[in-house]
Amino acid sequence: MLLSKLGLENFRNFSKSFFSFEDGINVIWGENAAGKSNLLEAIFFSGTGKPSKANREVELIQFGQPYARIENHFLKKNKTHLLEAALERTEQDSTRKVLKLNKNPVRKVSELVGEFKVVLFSPQDQALVQGEPFFRRRFLDSLLSQLSPPYLHSYMKYQAVKEQRNSLLKQPSYTSTELFPWNLKLIETGSLLIFKRLEILPELSALAQKAHQFLCQEEFLEVQYLSSFPLPEPHNELTVETLMQFFEQALAKTAAEEKKRGMTLVGPHRDDLGIFIAKQDARIYGSQGQQKTAALALRLAEGELFEKIDEEPPIYLLDDCFSELDQDRQKAFCSFFLKNAQGILTTAEEPAAYLKGYPHIKLQKRGREEISCGIPG
Ligand SMILES: Nc1ncnc2c1ncn2[C@@H]1O[C@H](COP(=O)(O)OP(=O)(O)OP(=O)(O)O)[C@@H](O)[C@H]1O
Ligand SMILES: [Mg+2]
Repeated sequence: MLLSKLGLENFRNFSKSFFSFEDGINVIWGENAAGKSNLLEAIFFSGTGKPSKANREVELIQFGQPYARIENHFLKKNKTHLLEAALERTEQDSTRKVLKLNKNPVRKVSELVGEFKVVLFSPQDQALVQGEPFFRRRFLDSLLSQLSPPYLHSYMKYQAVKEQRNSLLKQPSYTSTELFPWNLKLIETGSLLIFKRLEILPELSALAQKAHQFLCQEEFLEVQYLSSFPLPEPHNELTVETLMQFFEQALAKTAAEEKKRGMTLVGPHRDDLGIFIAKQDARIYGSQGQQKTAALALRLAEGELFEKIDEEPPIYLLDDCFSELDQDRQKAFCSFFLKNAQGILTTAEEPAAYLKGYPHIKLQKRGREEISCGIPG
């Protein structure tokens, strides 16, 4: 997959801008607030129909403007495609969204899944290693939903069942007969999620390990599934039926505590990933650079899993991926992209000598409205 051209109109701080990209690494550099993250967000939004960091789509439209537009020309299996996204500001300060793929309207964002694959590494990704379990679960759930749409369906179903069950648990008096059907549904949908997560884990862990070794030869990375209830090893031999039995036992054990706290205390919504560097828990003992390297390795592994299915690499959007990495790790990271994957990376620092050979786009901030770009040399 290759992004070749991108046109922006009234998208965040870009009034009217046009960018060309090449194969391999593309370096976007510019001072703070020049629009580097905004540019990556525009690429992400055009491909997924969803903002990557904004809470509300209206934030994407330039202040004071009635609409924003993005045109994304990309190559997939050597064929050119055009994605168009337009957002119109409505009177309620909300938005109307129009998405088109090759001039055909896209009615639901889910229709875009798989059309333009991107892997986004954002500065918040350090939380993948350092943050609360929520970030690692979200990583895994989003990865599995993109690899297999039925996973997303099961995930939504599980969330709904868990919410309903929690409402019942919050009531002052409920009977086990009332709870029973919710237990069944929770166990059934939850075990399927755990099964799918355990199924992908050996491959995810192996790919992350390989990517990590590429970035820093001497340190060994391991990713483990940490279940909220005891599961026998080896995890990959567990069937959905056995998982259901263990889940049921765990629910029986936590019944009294659930009643006290009014919430479901075990299940896939409480599971986590353990990330170990040289056998030490990276969340607790990892340095900033080690945590960032491990997070990058997870994102590269995500991309490789997409590549296996799509038979071509996704586009890697790498926002501020270099800060905290030493030069050896930075150089190793760049060489990952020599095998033809496209990586669009941003940096606030003037690119080091070893980056000079790659295509550059320099964003210059001259007041809020004016942005100029170009490929020097
Ligand atoms: N809707 C909008 N309209 C106009 N400007 C906006 C809008 N949303 C954000 N901006 C501005 O865009 C500017 C650039 O933001 P961005 O996050 O892309 O910078 P950056 O180059 O990534 O900076 P850093 O190096 O600090 O990460 C900010 O100053 C912000 O005020
Ligand atoms: Mg930024």
